[in-house]
Amino acid sequence: MLELNEVDVAYGNIQALHGVTLTARPGQITAVLGANGAGKSSLLKAISGLAPVTAGTIRIDGTDIGRLPAHKRARLGVSLAMEGRRLFRTMTVEENLSIAWSFGPRRTPFPQALERVFAAFPILEERRSGTSGMLSGGQQQMLILSSVTIREPAFMLLDEPSLGLAPIIVQQIFDFITAYSRERQTTVVLAEQMAAMALQVAHQGFVLRHGRVIMGGSSQALADADIVAQLSAAYL
Ligand SMILES: Nc1ncnc2c1ncn2[C@@H]1O[C@H](COP(=O)(O)OP(=O)(O)O)[C@@H](O)[C@H]1O
Ligand SMILES: [Mg+2]
Repeated sequence: MLELNEVDVAYGNIQALHGVTLTARPGQITAVLGANGAGKSSLLKAISGLAPVTAGTIRIDGTDIGRLPAHKRARLGVSLAMEGRRLFRTMTVEENLSIAWSFGPRRTPFPQALERVFAAFPILEERRSGTSGMLSGGQQQMLILSSVTIREPAFMLLDEPSLGLAPIIVQQIFDFITAYSRERQTTVVLAEQMAAMALQVAHQGFVLRHGRVIMGGSSQALADADIVAQLSAAYL
């Protein structure tokens, strides 16, 4: 279980999060929704140790990790896929996976870990010797996700995996995340601007606005509150 209590994040004078409190549970997808600039990335970075937390507590399974450096949180099973598809573009698919694996706990030997990735995304096996920069957007997102799962995280933080992808690819990626978190009882936090699609797979969600949680509840409750329409209106 992941618990944030009254978390503030500030970049110098710019306060990105104000008293954010939320809980995310194993085997479930928790959506963090909000318009551009609402604080979604800051929230995921705060959990992984990459954003300056100025107040509040962050606990995983009861342990306060709020003051640990990022690499120690990673060792405790926190894994972030940052927005913008960050890959080693001149390296091959397999090399990217190998680097990701080497930063994990290495519980599973690399060849077996690779086999699991290829079973989930056969296209990555076909492209294993090609550079990742040559992959399509959807394939790059599959590689990013695989770079996270190959570390066998207990807490998987995904920053806008749907960005710029066709709906059919987004569906495939969300289906994978759903099945993965259920099978492995992973705690997933999914930051998304695409509220409608995210709420279809999430168990619960929190809506951020200007760094504050303005609404939280089950996906059904958020859908009933017409949160999707409200967020769409925010873009107009
Ligand atoms: N490194 C940074 N330095 C200064 N301000 C930042 C930094 N990162 C984000 N911000 C600001 O924090 C706020 C929240 O940004 P962010 O967390 O990226 O939102 P989102 O991911 O929802 O688009 C925005 O006002 C943004 O400009
Ligand atoms: Mg963001």
